[in-house]
Amino acid sequence: KTIPWTRKLLPASHRIPDAELAARTTLPVFGEVLTEHMVSVRWSATRGWHDAEVVPYAPLTMDPAMVGLHYGQIVFEGLKAYRQPDGSIAAFRAADHARRLQRSAARLAMPEPPVELFLDALAELAAADRRWAPSVESQSLYLRPILYATETTLALRPATEYRFLALAMVTEAFFGEGAPPVSVWAGTRWVRAATGGTGEAKCAGNYAAGLAAQVEAGAHGCRQVVWLDAAEHRWVEEMGGMNIFFVYGDRLVTPPLSGTILPGVTRASVLALAPELGLTVEERQVTLAQWQADCRSGAMTEAFACGTAALITSIGRVVTESGEIPVGETSGPVANRLGVALADIQRGRVPDRHGWRH
Ligand code: COI
Repeated sequence: KTIPWTRKLLPASHRIPDAELAARTTLPVFGEVLTEHMVSVRWSATRGWHDAEVVPYAPLTMDPAMVGLHYGQIVFEGLKAYRQPDGSIAAFRAADHARRLQRSAARLAMPEPPVELFLDALAELAAADRRWAPSVESQSLYLRPILYATETTLALRPATEYRFLALAMVTEAFFGEGAPPVSVWAGTRWVRAATGGTGEAKCAGNYAAGLAAQVEAGAHGCRQVVWLDAAEHRWVEEMGGMNIFFVYGDRLVTPPLSGTILPGVTRASVLALAPELGLTVEERQVTLAQWQADCRSGAMTEAFACGTAALITSIGRVVTESGEIPVGETSGPVANRLGVALADIQRGRVPDRHGWRH
């Protein structure tokens, strides 16, 4: 352990009864079924990381003049833990998520939580709430670490005090169980990220800035946004909360990490797994016009979204300002194969050759 932990667990008499837990987790809507504990660690410029504890899940008390609330020094992670065949719980690529949190924190001039502290925090949380980790094939325990500035000041400078929390929730398929391939809206009114901005950091502000476009997508009958580059509105970058892949037969193409794209852990996993399934991978830019042309010609056979929450989800409709791109309405076979291969690793059904289970 990097620092000492205090465990203030709920007594058995105060825990949610098994029957109620089962009822709450039968069809959990993404984001709504949180577990009974959370982890909290504090950081200050004078003391470093301290006060690591596992406590019952509860609302926070915060100073109204807290830096995070005003200036948005907030970064987070999202990763999943899966029940294994032997009953243990394994988080998927936890150290990679820890390192991404460090990079996000550095971008927002925040302290970088040590990888070991991040891993300890998740282990503590999983131990406290292990009965929440689902055994159902379509479900997992989604872990949400977050770091935010707590110092009380309205001075515009990096805060000198922070809090790290980790929450857990029971999650089902992001777009809903049995949902059809996802429909996406490619608008040009807003942009997600420009070169030199915060696009590759997982900061709260990126998601806030995307919500207006998400609403616009809904107005066009779509469930997700597909973001184009900021300068020319031509190049496909990523989706609202996930990365994107194009499939040309047995060749996968995804936009390169140019600094404006979130470096997805699922994206990296697909790039690593694809060659094992006989697929070739290429990181190169694709324009919206090319996407349209390649669908028309039949060269592009599928497109899919990938992310921790979304896993691998086929894209079924693309609506642009000039009309619809004719992509298939059904899940693609390549997306399905990758999804199965990924789930087999995550759920411990095959050896962990990549060292991804923690
Ligand atoms: C994830 O896939 O884990 C994300 O963080 C995307 C979104 C749900 C915020």
